[in-house]
Amino acid sequence: MSVPISPTPARWATRAEALAPFLAMEVLERAAELERAGIDIAHLELGEPEFAPPAAATRATMEALARDDTGYTDSRGIWPLREAIAEDLERRFGQSVTPERVLVTQGTSSAMTLVFSCLVEAGDEVLIPTPHYPCYPNFVRFCGAKPIFVPTKAENGWHIDPERVRRAITPKTKAIIIGSPANPTGAVQPREVMEALAQMGPTLIADEIYDGLVYDGVETTSAITLGENHFVLDGFSKRYAMTGFRLGWVVAPESAMRRLQILQQNLFISASSFVQHAGIAAIEEGAQMTADLVEACGERRTLLVDGLRRLGFGIDHDPEGAFYVLADARAFGDDSRALAFELLERAHVGITPGIDFGEAAEGRLRFCYALSPDTIETALTRLEPVLAELSSGASGNLKIGDRNREKEGLA
Ligand SMILES: Cc1ncc(COP(=O)(O)O)c(C=O)c1O
Repeated sequence: MSVPISPTPARWATRAEALAPFLAMEVLERAAELERAGIDIAHLELGEPEFAPPAAATRATMEALARDDTGYTDSRGIWPLREAIAEDLERRFGQSVTPERVLVTQGTSSAMTLVFSCLVEAGDEVLIPTPHYPCYPNFVRFCGAKPIFVPTKAENGWHIDPERVRRAITPKTKAIIIGSPANPTGAVQPREVMEALAQMGPTLIADEIYDGLVYDGVETTSAITLGENHFVLDGFSKRYAMTGFRLGWVVAPESAMRRLQILQQNLFISASSFVQHAGIAAIEEGAQMTADLVEACGERRTLLVDGLRRLGFGIDHDPEGAFYVLADARAFGDDSRALAFELLERAHVGITPGIDFGEAAEGRLRFCYALSPDTIETALTRLEPVLAELSSGASGNLKIGDRNREKEGLA
């Protein structure tokens, strides 16, 4: 008897169906369709610095390619890069870390995949202070576990209240994941908060991809300095404007390294060989580029924050770090997803809906400011007339929600 072959399974895997779309990417992908139709879009939706990577990193990539350095590498990364990352950590935080505790990945996202796969399983809970990076709860759900959100508030500078985190801990709590400096709020958690989180019991996973991108003399606290049992995620995408290189790393407890190595061998084999040489060059020669990026972002932050306030957005605190503003947009509509897509279609400005970062950020929009002054000015100019119309209620702003949900294939 022949078995009928179905072109698609009756049901997709629960883990695939559990994931929500990453709305920043959905905005980008709709923007790309508009661009293909000849429309110019001002992109403020992505966490992508509009800056060139360190010249030395590009050169090192091309030199590696020219000598055919294009094979697989040690799954943990090439030794000189692991050494360079360890030395850089010591330079930045005064804390020595052995290269053996560093594992190089294809971007911080892959580091997150490895760490969550290693730690989290069905039945576990993971605490996530919110607003949060959109992918954190999706990684948790992907592992069959449950994200538990711990809200933070704009009026407290989005700082975490360790007591609220402590109260959310149950016997099922496996880990706490935080980002500092944070996407989307720009909050930098004070040292006492970091210390409290590190001592709470559940494993601390610290996403430090925006470390070093801070303003007004604010200081960051790396989980590296709080003991050897924490997982620290980091990468080259932000500080060195190397998003497309796909290069990151995790610093892990010694006891986790073999597990992570085996996961890496199976899931990714290794990060790209020639890109790893770019990583060494970025660490050795990219400090000036990062300093220039921070200086520029400091100026662009003022340009964007002042401009948004003028347009009627609410911004309680200037962001302390990273390169985003999470602005209160309720003067223009409560449904952030509908509002972001409406502004994309009508003003041709890409912005990320607050709801991408959790319920605590609904009614807000996230804008990136690691951009040229031209891009920021263009966005502000284009937004003004459309927002004026929305706030006057002339276009019946909240009705737009359903229309856009349909457009996104979510209705
Ligand atoms: C907080 C945070 N973590 C991780 C990532 C992913 O970075 P990567 O490009 O290194 O995969 C991002 C990207 O925007 C981010 O904002």
